[in-house]
Amino acid sequence: MDKIVKVSRDTLARAAQIIREGGLVAFPTETVYGLGASAFLPQAVARIFEAKKRPRFDPLIVHIARRDEVEKLFSTFPPKAQLLAEQFWPGPLTLICPKKKEVPEIVTAGLSTVAVRMPSHPVALELITRAGVPIAAPSANRFGHVSPTRAEEVFSDLGEAVDLILDGGKTPVGVESTVLLVEEERVVLLRPGGIALEELEKVVGKIEIGGKEESPLSPGTLKKHYAPQVPLYLFKGKNEDLKELTENGIVVLAPFPLDVSRLKVRVLSERGDLREAAAFLFSTLRELEKTPLRAIVALPVEEKGLGRAVMDRLRRAASGWAQIKAGKLILVDKEE
Ligand code: TXA
Ligand code: MG
Repeated sequence: MDKIVKVSRDTLARAAQIIREGGLVAFPTETVYGLGASAFLPQAVARIFEAKKRPRFDPLIVHIARRDEVEKLFSTFPPKAQLLAEQFWPGPLTLICPKKKEVPEIVTAGLSTVAVRMPSHPVALELITRAGVPIAAPSANRFGHVSPTRAEEVFSDLGEAVDLILDGGKTPVGVESTVLLVEEERVVLLRPGGIALEELEKVVGKIEIGGKEESPLSPGTLKKHYAPQVPLYLFKGKNEDLKELTENGIVVLAPFPLDVSRLKVRVLSERGDLREAAAFLFSTLRELEKTPLRAIVALPVEEKGLGRAVMDRLRRAASGWAQIKAGKLILVDKEE
C-alpha cells in the first residue's frame, strides 16, 4: 500500500517528476481518479493501456491546467467549443475537436480528433502545472470495471502497475465528465456526465444525442462497461413487488419506503437528489460487490440533470432489466 501517498508539496513534486520521466501517476479529479501519463510521451501512454488492460482502439482524454494549452492540442477550436470552455472549465466537461498532428496517435487511437478537459480538482491542476505537460488520463480502473472514487479503489484495481497514487480523498462529483464532440455547427453528446445536458444547452442551444451503445463516434462508450463483479439488474415493476424478492438481492437508489429488511438496501440520496446519487453511485457499487450477494437490483431514476449520467452508467453496468416472479428475478427483454 506504500504506493498510496497523501497529497503534500513533496509528494506532488515526486508525482510530477514521475510524469516527466514517463511513469504513471493516479490522481484525484473532481469526477473520478485518473491514471495519468505525459500526453507527449507515447511510450508512457502505452503503459496506461497495459496497466488498465484497455484496448488500444479506445482513445484517452488529455487534461490541461491552463486555457492556452489547448493550442498544443486542437488544430481548430470552433466558437461553440470556446464558449463551452469559457463557461465550464475548469470542470467536468470534455471537448472533442480536431487534433494537431503533434498529438501522439496512441492518445487518440488514430482518430483525427482529441478529447481535452481542464479538471477543477486542485490536486489535478497542481500536478499538471508542476509536470509542465498535458496529462493523458483515463479513469484509473481495470478496463470495464466501475470507475474509482477513492485511492484504495485504484490500488485494488491496478496495484503494482501504477508508480504512485496521490490520495486526495473521495472525489466529489463521482461520475465521469460529460463528453461532447464539437464541430463548427454541430454539438453531439457522446457521454452524459458531471455537467447536465440542460446546463450545456443553455449556452450552445440544442445538443444532439449520440454515443448510444457502440458508437463509431466514441469507441469507448461500450454497451457493457462500468460493471460491478456481481450481476446488476435494473428493476422494472412496482416497488411493492420487491417485497417478494427471496433471493439474495439488493436495492440501491430510492428514497425507498418499503420494509424489505431481508435485503441490503442502499439509498444513494435520502433527499432524492440526483447530484448526490451520482456522487455515491460508484462507491456504493464497489461496496456491494464485496458482499456475498447474488445480485444488485437498481431502481431506475429520472433522466434529467445528473440522472442522465446515473442511468447511462446503470444501463451499461446492467445485465438487463428484470422483474420479480415467485420471489425470483427474471430478465425481461426490453426497456419499454
Ligand atoms: O471524468 C473523466 O472524464 C475521467 C477523469 C479521469 O478525467 N476520465 C475518463 O476517461 O472517464 P475514460 O478514458 O475512462 O473515458 C473517456 C471517454 C471514452 O469513452 C473514450 O472513448 C472517449 O472519452 N473519447 C476520448 N477521446 C475521444 C475522441 N477523440 N473521439 C471520441 N471519443 C473519445
Ligand atoms: Mg473509464
